[in-house]
Amino acid sequence: FSVPLQLSKTKRTSEARSFPFDSMTKFLCDTNMKILKNIGTLLTMDGAAKKDGRRIKEADLGLQEKAALVFDRGSILWSGPQKKIPREFLKSAKAKHLDAKGMTVLPGLVECHTHLVYAGNRADEFEVKLQGATYQEIAAKGGGILSTMKHTRSASLAKLKSSAVLRIKEFSRQGVTSVEAKSGYGLDIASEIKQLKALEGIRGAHVVRTFLGAHAKPPEFSTHEEYLIYLADKVLPRLAKQKLADRVDIFIEKGFFESSAASVYLKKAKALGFDIVIHADQLSLSGGTSLGLELNAVSCDHLIKIDDSIVRRIAGSDMTAVLLPAADLYMRCDYPPARKLIEGGARVALATDFNPGTSPTQNVQLVGLLARLEMKMSLPEVISAYTVGAAHALKLENHVGSLSPGKKADFVLWDGEWSELFYEASSAKVDTVFYEGLPVYNAKQ
Ligand code: NIG
Ligand code: FE
Repeated sequence: FSVPLQLSKTKRTSEARSFPFDSMTKFLCDTNMKILKNIGTLLTMDGAAKKDGRRIKEADLGLQEKAALVFDRGSILWSGPQKKIPREFLKSAKAKHLDAKGMTVLPGLVECHTHLVYAGNRADEFEVKLQGATYQEIAAKGGGILSTMKHTRSASLAKLKSSAVLRIKEFSRQGVTSVEAKSGYGLDIASEIKQLKALEGIRGAHVVRTFLGAHAKPPEFSTHEEYLIYLADKVLPRLAKQKLADRVDIFIEKGFFESSAASVYLKKAKALGFDIVIHADQLSLSGGTSLGLELNAVSCDHLIKIDDSIVRRIAGSDMTAVLLPAADLYMRCDYPPARKLIEGGARVALATDFNPGTSPTQNVQLVGLLARLEMKMSLPEVISAYTVGAAHALKLENHVGSLSPGKKADFVLWDGEWSELFYEASSAKVDTVFYEGLPVYNAKQ
C-alpha cells in the first residue's frame, strides 16, 4: 500500500459537515476518487443493513469475490465485481487506483459501548475480587467506580485527552472507525465536563459522546435521588446548551440508581433533546430494560438478567440489545440470552464495555470470539453485531456499518479470510484501516 498515513492535506467538505455527530470530531475527507481493486472478498453488509440487523445469515453479508470499491470525498460511490467497474470511474483522470492485494474488505467496526476516558486503574481491586469480594461489596467500601472517580477528578484535561487519543488509536489499530465514549468517572459538573472535553478534536474515528453522570453516587450527596436532581437541574441543561454530549446513560442497579428515580431523570434528558441509553439488568433484574422500552431508549446494555417476556418486548421494539461479553468474562457471571434475542428477532450489537473495573480490555476480536464461544452466536451474527447492529446502537446506521453507496468510506483491509474474523483473539490480521476515505492505520508503517 503506497498511500501515506497522514491526514494533513485534506479538506472538510459540506457533505461531511452534515454528519450528525460532527460537533466536535474533525471530519477530514479526501477529495480524490479512489478505486480499490483486487479485493479477494468484499463484505458490504448490505443485506444485514436492509434487514435492520435482525436474524442475520451468511447471505446477508453481501459477500462478493474479486470485487472493487469506488469512493470519493469520504463516501462510498460504488461496489461490485472488479470486471464491472463502471467506465466513468475507470476513465476519470483524477481517480487513484489502489491494490487490495487479494485481501478481505469489510466495513469499519463500530464500538458502541466504552468508558474510554478515565485515569488510574483497578488492578489491585481485581486481585481482591478474585479472592471473593463482590462488585457491590467493593463499591460499598468506596472502591470500584468511586476509586476511578478519585483518579479522574485529580487528572488534568491534557492527561485525560492524551490517554483518550491513545485508546482511540488502539481501537483504530483493530479496525474500529466509530467509537462511543462515556463520562461517568467525574461525578461532579466540572469533572464530568472535563471528561467530555477530553473527547474534543479526536481524529481518525467518529466519536459519539455519552454523559454517564448517573454512574454512581459521589460522596458529596447523601442519597441517589438528591444526586439525580442535581444532575437534572444543574448538569444536563449545561451539557445541552454547550453541546457537550449526544446521549445520556444511567446505571440502573441495586445499590446504584433505581428505576423510578431514573425514569424522572431520563425524561428530563429526553426533553432536553438527548438520546437515552441504559446500563440495564446486569447484576440483577432491576427494571432497567423495561424502563428503556417504555422511554424508547436507543439501546439497553448488558441484559444478563432479562427474562423471556422482556426478550419478546425487545424483539418487537426498535431498541438495540447491546451485549458485552468481555465484562461477563471478567465478572465471571452468566452471559445474556443472545440466542433467544436473535431468534426472537431482536437487533443485537456487541461491544467491549472497555473500563478499568469490569472490562479492562479493548480487544474487539476477543469480544466477538466470546460471543461465539459463550453465547452461541454464529460468525455472520457477530460480524453484523459489530457493524450494522452497533451502528444502530449509535443511531449512525445511515452513515456507517455497511458499505452501500452514500455511506462513509470507513473500511478495513483484513489480511486473511473472513472466516478468520473473531477466531484468534487478536487483530494482527488488520492490514489497513480507512476512515472517511483516508488510511488511518497501516500495519506495515
Ligand atoms: O459497564 N456497570 C456499570 N458500569 C460499568 C463498570 C464501571 C466500573 O466498574 O468502573 C460497566 O460494567
Ligand atoms: Fe459499561
